[in-house]
Amino acid sequence: MANLSVRVVGGVEVPSPGFGGMGLSNVYGAANDEESKALLRHAIEIGQTFWDTADIYGSGHNEKLIGAVLAEGDNRKKVFLATKFSFEFDATTGNATSTGKIRGDAAYIRKAIEDSIKRLGTTPDLYYQHRVDPSVSLEETYGTLEELRKEGKIKYIGMSECSAETLRKAAKIAKIDALQVEYSPWTTDIERNGILQAARELKIPIVAYSPLGRGFLTGRYKSVEEFESNDRRLQHPRFAQENFQNNLKIVEKLEAIAKKKGITPAQLALAWVAAQGDDFIPIPGTKTIPRLEENWASREVKFTEEELKEIREAVDGFVASGARYPEGMMKSIGK
Ligand SMILES: NC(=O)c1ccc[n+]([C@@H]2O[C@H](COP(=O)([O-])OP(=O)(O)OC[C@H]3O[C@@H](n4cnc5c(N)ncnc54)[C@H](OP(=O)(O)O)[C@@H]3O)[C@@H](O)[C@H]2O)c1
Repeated sequence: MANLSVRVVGGVEVPSPGFGGMGLSNVYGAANDEESKALLRHAIEIGQTFWDTADIYGSGHNEKLIGAVLAEGDNRKKVFLATKFSFEFDATTGNATSTGKIRGDAAYIRKAIEDSIKRLGTTPDLYYQHRVDPSVSLEETYGTLEELRKEGKIKYIGMSECSAETLRKAAKIAKIDALQVEYSPWTTDIERNGILQAARELKIPIVAYSPLGRGFLTGRYKSVEEFESNDRRLQHPRFAQENFQNNLKIVEKLEAIAKKKGITPAQLALAWVAAQGDDFIPIPGTKTIPRLEENWASREVKFTEEELKEIREAVDGFVASGARYPEGMMKSIGK
């Protein structure tokens, strides 16, 4: 059984699970900055210090929020900080308003890292290309990232939602230290599309985003009506009225297994993702301290072989209704 609580990224030990900051920028319903800062401080206190953000989250808001907490005392030293670039956005709106363009050219990357450093008040450790820009050569994108690494602006390079082929090609140009992909009990695509195989051959760890299925797998939501009207999930096909009820079937199965084991469905999902290997790091997000602690405690969960088999049967026996992103956003995946 893999050790569930420590992982290695770029040769450095990081705690698992990590923390995903996106929800702190009004993506899944309204967030409150003072409460978010208290939450981030608490994450540092308990040791949940592998943090994930991106320039696009809240159009810069997320990086500024995280930067404010990292500026306090010696917090920066305690956190392994990852951010991302590639979605062009309007930084004046305060909302995640993508212009729809994905950029991977040298000039864009050089401006994006400077802007991120300003908002964060520090250089990030890990810098991901959020989505691949197929109009730019990988030599240009990953050559530039290697230059940034040499200049000390970043330490590690990551990719997100690329194809297995692109991952292999990029890994010949730069040292790729992490691959971020959606992975959870209702999203195991990487097991079938060659991505997991490529990452393992290249010895690149998998940073599993939306490990709670954007909250769906926690069993907390039983109807679409429960979401605030501006909640991003309402744009995602899996959360559409016509798909919601069918998708609840996997939740019911996971809930039953979690109940038998005396853990919450959220803990089951996170511990199961972490149990896929010592190269898997789930990065759940939450806006509340009790849920942060609940998720952090998933590192204590140990499954028996029988339990793993039961969960795997539930996972493999289920096909989610609806794509995991709206149609336009699906087009940028797997490039
Ligand atoms: N690379 C990419 O393209 C990409 C895409 C999406 C996300 N990400 C990263 O991955 C991180 C995590 O993904 P995510 O935020 O999409 O989804 P997630 O972590 O799967 O789920 C977050 C949702 O689950 C709820 N939740 C969390 N813990 C819970 C618990 N114990 N019980 C009940 N509900 C709980 C949260 O609600 P509350 O906040 O109300 O607790 C929130 O609505 C993001 O923050 C971001 O950093 C990356």
